[in-house]
Formats: sequence, structure tokens, C-alpha cells
Amino acid sequence: MKIAVCPGSFDPVTYGHLDIISRACDLFDRVYVAVLTNPAKRALFTADERVEMLSRATAELDTVYCEKFSGLVVEYAKARGAVAMVRGLRAVTDFEFELKMASMNHYLDKDIETVFMMTSNEYSFLSSSAVKEVASLGGDVSAWVPGPVAEALAKRYSAMAGSEL
Ligand code: PNS
Repeated sequence: MKIAVCPGSFDPVTYGHLDIISRACDLFDRVYVAVLTNPAKRALFTADERVEMLSRATAELDTVYCEKFSGLVVEYAKARGAVAMVRGLRAVTDFEFELKMASMNHYLDKDIETVFMMTSNEYSFLSSSAVKEVASLGGDVSAWVPGPVAEALAKRYSAMAGSEL
């Protein structure tokens, strides 16, 4: 059985992520979508909330398992029996960061490959940060994230605006 990990922050999951996850399912028998728990990186949603949103969004993909992880991604991947980590590449701007990360991970564990997939054209501009910025300013993000995620964003930002009053 070929197993892959799709690691990321997923703060929150977008249709761009879901595109990569579903395409990874065509190549691998099982895909673990792994949400990084990183106390040093301030996230809008907790790791549990992000896992919950991902689980709902991938409910129809039988071979996908969503969970959180901490520590080194190669160690997590090894513990899950994965042979590869799948990452989406949008533009040249992603390349430098991804190359560094893939090289570092290859140094740490040569048995785990990083597989890059070009993001589908319609999502080439999409990022969780852009979605958060638009949502925080009251813009419509329903074309970029699943309905429950758009609702969670609206709720979170209105709660934050309320607490600032
Ligand atoms: O969605 P992101 O923020 O681009 O995902 C980055 C992520 C979570 C894949 C990366 O930060 C990661 O793997 N962190 C775990 C720590 C680790 O293994 N670091 C070594 C590789 S640089």
C-alpha cells in the first residue's frame, strides 16, 4: 500500500488545498492530511478546528485521514508508513521555500520523497492568508473555501470585532 502525507497549516483549508488532496488520492492508496500544531505560529483557528474543517471537506474521499501533528514532518510521515509528502506549487514565489523544505526533509530522511503538484490554474492565486484578509474585511470568500469554512471565518472575525469594542 502506497501512503502519502499532505502536510500544512491549513489555516483554513481552501479549494486549492482540496484540489491537491483529491489529486493525491489518485496517486496514493491512502493520504494523511496532517495539520501542523505550532504554538510559535499564530493561527486563526486551533489545530482541532482546522482538522475538523478538513475532515468535513474531505468526507467523500474514503482514503483520506485528517489529523494534527507536531515535531518533524518526516518523523510523522515515517510513523504513518508514508513514502511521500505531497505539496502544491502555485508560482515561482513558492519554489524557493518549497525547495528549501524538500531539501531539508530529504537530508533528514532519504526514504521519504517530496512530490510536487502544480496547483490547478483556477487556484493559482489562492492562499489561506488572502482568504483571511478578504474575510476579515467582510468580503465574500465562498468561491475559494467550502461553505462551513466561510461561515467559520465570518463567525471568527465578527467575534474578534466584538471583543475589540
Ligand atoms: O502550509 P504551510 O504553512 O506552508 O506548511 C508548512 C509545513 C507545516 C509543511 C512545514 O512548516 C513543516 O513541515 N513543519 C514541521 C517541522 C519540520 O518538519 N520542519 C523541517 C522542514 S523545513
